[in-house]
Amino acid sequence: MAGGFREFRVANKVVESEIITSFYFEPTDESPVWEVLPGQYITLRVPGSADPVLKTYSVSCDPSETRHHRISVKREAGLNGAPDGVGSCWLHDQVEIGDTIEIAAPRGKFFLDEASTRPVLLLSGGVGLTPMVSMLYRLCEADRDVHFLHACENGQVHALRDEVLSCANDRIKPRFVYRMPTAEDRAAKLFDAQGVIDKTFMQTHVPIGDYEAYICGPTPFMVAMYQLLQELGVPKNRIAYEFFGKATSLEALAARSASARSNKAASRAAPTIQALTFLTNPDAWAADEGAATTPKPDTPSAGDIVFQASNVTTTWDGSATSLLELAENAGLNPEFSCRAGICNSCKCGLVSGEVVYFEEPLIQPEAGQVLICCSRPKGPVVLDI
Ligand SMILES: Cc1cc2nc3c(=O)[nH]c(=O)nc-3n(C[C@H](O)[C@H](O)[C@H](O)COP(=O)(O)OP(=O)(O)OC[C@H]3O[C@@H](n4cnc5c(N)ncnc54)[C@H](O)[C@@H]3O)c2cc1C
Ligand code: FES
Repeated sequence: MAGGFREFRVANKVVESEIITSFYFEPTDESPVWEVLPGQYITLRVPGSADPVLKTYSVSCDPSETRHHRISVKREAGLNGAPDGVGSCWLHDQVEIGDTIEIAAPRGKFFLDEASTRPVLLLSGGVGLTPMVSMLYRLCEADRDVHFLHACENGQVHALRDEVLSCANDRIKPRFVYRMPTAEDRAAKLFDAQGVIDKTFMQTHVPIGDYEAYICGPTPFMVAMYQLLQELGVPKNRIAYEFFGKATSLEALAARSASARSNKAASRAAPTIQALTFLTNPDAWAADEGAATTPKPDTPSAGDIVFQASNVTTTWDGSATSLLELAENAGLNPEFSCRAGICNSCKCGLVSGEVVYFEEPLIQPEAGQVLICCSRPKGPVVLDI
C-alpha cells in the first residue's frame, strides 16, 4: 500500500460522550500493530477524494496494547452554516464496525519522556485528553507521581472519565474541572472544581514539585496553561505540548516575537508575545535558554535562500527549524497545516538547490516539489514562493 499506509479493520466503535467517539482498529493482515510511543498519533486516509485527505488522531489507548490501536474523535459539526468537519464527521457518521481504513504509522514528537523520574503534570482541555490517556496508561507502570488535570464543559462532553479514574491510586491523582456543570454533574459529584484551571486550583491540588508538564487542548487553553506554569515557576524546558490544529495565530505571534528579538527589541514586545515564542517552538521540549540561537548539529552549510515569487532573499544560519519557519521569519506567509510532513499543504516548487528532510514526508512530493515544513536547505536554494 502506497505511502507507508496499512489496512486496518474497524473492530469497535464506542460512544464516549455526546461529542466524542472511539474507534478501535485491528490490522487486516493479522500482523502486529505498530509500536507507538505514549502521546503519538496515527494518520488516517479519508476516502472519496482524488487528492489524499489525511487526518491525524492521537492514539488514546494503552500504548502497550497489542491487539488494536484506538483513537477518540470529537465530531466537528459545522457551525452557522459552515460545512461539517470532513474527517471527524466521516468517522462519526459513516465509518462502522467491519469497515476497512488505511492508516499510516505512528508519528509525532509529543510523547512521554520515559527516561525521566520526575513527577508528571498532564494538562488537557476538551478532546486534548487523548494523548494524555495514552501517557497515563504508561505511567501506571512507572514509579512517578502523576497529576492528571482535565478541563471540559461538563459531564455530557467528558470522555474517558471512568478509564482515567480506574488508573487513580496513591501516586496518580486525576482531577476534573467543569466550566458549566449540569445539575446531574453536581448530584453525581463528577467534577472537582467549577470554572477553569487557574492558579488557585493548581496551588490547592498540585503540591509544589519538580514537574514535567504536558499540555494539549484548544489553543487558548494551551496559552493559559503555559502562562500559568510559567507563573508557577515550571522551567520552559519541562513543558511539552501538542496542537490539535493549525496554530495560525500563535505562529504569527511567534514570528513577530522572533523578529522583535533579532532586532534586539524584545523588551518592547508585549509580555504575552514574548511568552508565546516558546509555545510555538516545535523543538521546545529539548530546548534550553540558548537553544533558539544555537545552530542544530545537522545544520547544513549556510547559503542564500531565495523566495523567488516574493522577491525575498535571506540566509540560512541554522536559527530556523525549517524552510517554512525561515520564510515566516522573513515576513512571508506560506501555506501550511500540520507542520509535520503529513498534509502536503506546504508543498512548493524547488527551482534550484537541494533540501534535506529532517522528517520524512508521509507522501513524497513529485519531482521538483518540496515540503518546506520538514526540510532544511543543503546549501543555496531557490523556491518558487
Ligand atoms: C497531532 C494531532 C493529533 C490530533 N488528535 C486528535 C484526537 O485525538 N482527537 C480529535 O478529535 N482530534 C484530533 N486532532 C484533530 C484532527 O486531526 C482534525 O483536525 C479534526 O478532527 C478536525 O478535522 P475535520 O476533518 O473533522 O474538520 P475540517 O474539515 O478540517 O474542518 C475543521 C472545522 O472547520 C469548520 N469548517 C470547515 N469549512 C468551513 C468554512 N468554509 N467556514 C467555516 N468553518 C468551516 C468545520 O465545521 C470544522 O469545525 C489532532 C490533530 C493533530 C494535529
Ligand atoms: S504543513 Fe503539512 S506537510 Fe508541511
